[in-house]
Amino acid sequence: MKLSTTTLSLEKITCDACIIFTHGRIPLLKTDSGALKKEIQQRLKNHSFSGKTNECIKLETSLLKAKHILLVGCGKDHIEPRNIEQAISSAIRAGISAGCRHFSILDEIPKLNLATATYQLLLGRGAIWGSYQYLLGKSNPKPTPLLRLTYVGNNSNKNSISNAKKQGDILKRTADLANSPGNIATPKQIAAFAKSLATSTQLTVQTLGKKELEKIGFGGMLAVSQGSSNDPSMIILKHNPKKSKKSPIVLIGKTVTFDSGGISLKPGKNMGWMRYDKCGGMSILATMQMLDAMQTDLPVIGILGAAENMPDASATRPGDIIKMHDGKTVEVLNTDAEGRLILADILSYSGKYKPEAIVDVATLTGAVIVALGHAASAALGSDKKLIDELLTAGSSAGERLWQLPLYAEYLEDMKSDFADLANLSKSGTAGTATAAAFLSAFIPPDTPWAHLDIAGTAWEMSDKPYQAAGATLFGARLLTQWICDREIENR
Ligand code: BES
Ligand code: ZN
Ligand code: ZN
Repeated sequence: MKLSTTTLSLEKITCDACIIFTHGRIPLLKTDSGALKKEIQQRLKNHSFSGKTNECIKLETSLLKAKHILLVGCGKDHIEPRNIEQAISSAIRAGISAGCRHFSILDEIPKLNLATATYQLLLGRGAIWGSYQYLLGKSNPKPTPLLRLTYVGNNSNKNSISNAKKQGDILKRTADLANSPGNIATPKQIAAFAKSLATSTQLTVQTLGKKELEKIGFGGMLAVSQGSSNDPSMIILKHNPKKSKKSPIVLIGKTVTFDSGGISLKPGKNMGWMRYDKCGGMSILATMQMLDAMQTDLPVIGILGAAENMPDASATRPGDIIKMHDGKTVEVLNTDAEGRLILADILSYSGKYKPEAIVDVATLTGAVIVALGHAASAALGSDKKLIDELLTAGSSAGERLWQLPLYAEYLEDMKSDFADLANLSKSGTAGTATAAAFLSAFIPPDTPWAHLDIAGTAWEMSDKPYQAAGATLFGARLLTQWICDREIENR
């Protein structure tokens, strides 16, 4: 999708659809747009459109040069960044199905408690995301038409619009990998994708295969992958454009290319969904590309733990005791609790970078869906400042986080009778928090750390107004925002 700007007035732009946001049934237009407001109200008279979030309606117009007006609801309550980004994605999706190709949108609207620059970033990124479709699975896909969005007004911010374009395109490109199934997006293929970035970007990329993981004692990651014919890979992407000597931020993503559960096999229903178990890593992969594209100053290291969890004669058995990278022993009571084994090795390994902070992102527990549904991801950690920063970044970037506690009792619950720790809690309660407590045992000393459980937010199970079924890349927008916020604070 092409993003362009114009200082022509809304009335004078020729395009297929002029997108107008509404608050309830009220169109959000500038105060001098009385005639247009009237036309919209008139044309809405015979429609039941209520302006609830992401509801779209296409109207005729005799006032504008645009072929249609495309109204989209931002809800009836306080409008948040997520409403804006979802609303424009929804309008673009609805518009494309109705045959529209060229869209226009005001570069500023009243009633919004949002910086213009942020608003324009959300618009462009959301529009591009709304135009995304996963086509790699079809033998004869219909080509996506050429699309264009024009920002209308005198306040277009070149930098925001260019960042929107970069971020949107990166999200789309990475979504193709995230939506690909386990037979295609293998650890090897993900490593190849990452390596290709070393030529197309300024990121440096290093991958460690099975032999190298054996050498550095990655007992957790090897135990998870030993039942699979696809070897594991730890993928390290480094961003440091200014060659800064500052300690880096480390971002870690669970990248399980398929989670069958292993010997503790999952039930068959919906098992195909478990291709999504790599989505933590996919959001880190997108974040690293965005930081590169935006030339963010701060040094950041992204690490993906890519492995496949399969049952096999050589697979890890429930009850096996393994030795982790940091020397701790773990009793694997359930081979389906594999994500924490991978993350634990990488968390302790990342100590070698003396990180300023560590954030891991993972589709770690079904329990987080019991707690929060699909409405928010859980954030856990013991550094209040870090958690607060992430919560703030989440609301500005349109990705919701909700903090869950990390009480000492949860780690107690993860102790084993036969090894230092078990990968399953004794009590069977607080699944998300006990998983995080397990991870907390592997954090390098005195390092601020946060864990984001995205099991409920990383994937849409069915088509939504704002995106087709599949990967959401939850985490990428918020982590990019967080690092940009930190960069500003650091100046
Ligand atoms: N990848 C899953 C998490 C998951 C489960 C996401 C169900 C969505 C739906 C993870 O590896 C897993 O299987 N976790 C287990 C842990 C349990 C065995 C302690 C779970 O949540 O059931
Ligand atoms: Zn699992
Ligand atoms: Zn898993």
